[in-house]
Amino acid sequence: MTAVLSADEASSAFSQRVLTGFGRQAASYEPQARLQQSVAWRLGRLCRDLPLPAGPSADLGAGSGLLSRALQVHRPELAQAPPLQLDLCPELLARNPFAGPTASPWDLNQGLPPALSGAALLLSSFALQWLDDPAGQLAHWSGRLAPGGWLVLALPVAGSFAAWQAAASAAAVPCTALPLPRAEALLEAATSAGLELRHGQQLRFSRPHQGGLATLRHLRLLGATASRQPPLAAGQLRRLLAHWPSAPLRWDVLLLLGRRPAAAGAP
Ligand SMILES: C[S@@+](CC[C@H](N)C(=O)[O-])C[C@H]1O[C@@H](n2cnc3c(N)ncnc32)[C@H](O)[C@@H]1O
Repeated sequence: MTAVLSADEASSAFSQRVLTGFGRQAASYEPQARLQQSVAWRLGRLCRDLPLPAGPSADLGAGSGLLSRALQVHRPELAQAPPLQLDLCPELLARNPFAGPTASPWDLNQGLPPALSGAALLLSSFALQWLDDPAGQLAHWSGRLAPGGWLVLALPVAGSFAAWQAAASAAAVPCTALPLPRAEALLEAATSAGLELRHGQQLRFSRPHQGGLATLRHLRLLGATASRQPPLAAGQLRRLLAHWPSAPLRWDVLLLLGRRPAAAGAP
């Protein structure tokens, strides 16, 4: 008999799988995270000249702190008050130089903590896609900004992992890749929540073809293994790998920079 889970149980079961995946591989995350590092650098650079109002700041799904490190390079004056580091995974937070020994894990599916009301700057890189309702959380994040506050975000979106989807369809097995939100839906959620978009760009990154096994191994070493599908049986996995096309693995990454309109008369 198959157990039927409520939406809350399914959400917390998925968060638990995300946590286990990243927790087990916390030591190998950064050596594997070249794409995440380069996107963090771009986001940090986008923050260089932003006029920030008063208010708290946070890195949402901060992991080991790549994005906040990039921010510090581009905005050294923020070193005195680094962004709050929120993440589900204590093993990654333990490696994060900004998290501090008392940082406790936070599940962003619950929304943001009250301390982030009226935020001056909310940053997030490669994390929103792991949440149950990315567009809904994006709208929630936008609504927590102070007037004149900024949301600076990157995440992989629908269109990524075409090689994996092609392999699954040719092998007639379920595709266990994480379903990714559509860029248009996220941009719409941000503007409907009242953000003025200052930058909305989709970038394409590719990893040279190395075959299905190397791709899945790379994702495992990143810790990015949680799936919303049950795992494939051994025979299904063999079929998937046998049908993997000789094409690069592609990430379509949305970069978004938006501002909550400043109060009348403010800069
Ligand atoms: C690919 S890592 C990105 C980490 C970091 N932002 C970076 O660019 O290196 C995804 C991060 O999202 C976090 N995450 C996933 N689901 C989460 C949730 N529900 N609440 C908080 N953090 C979550 C993971 O623990 C992990 O640290």
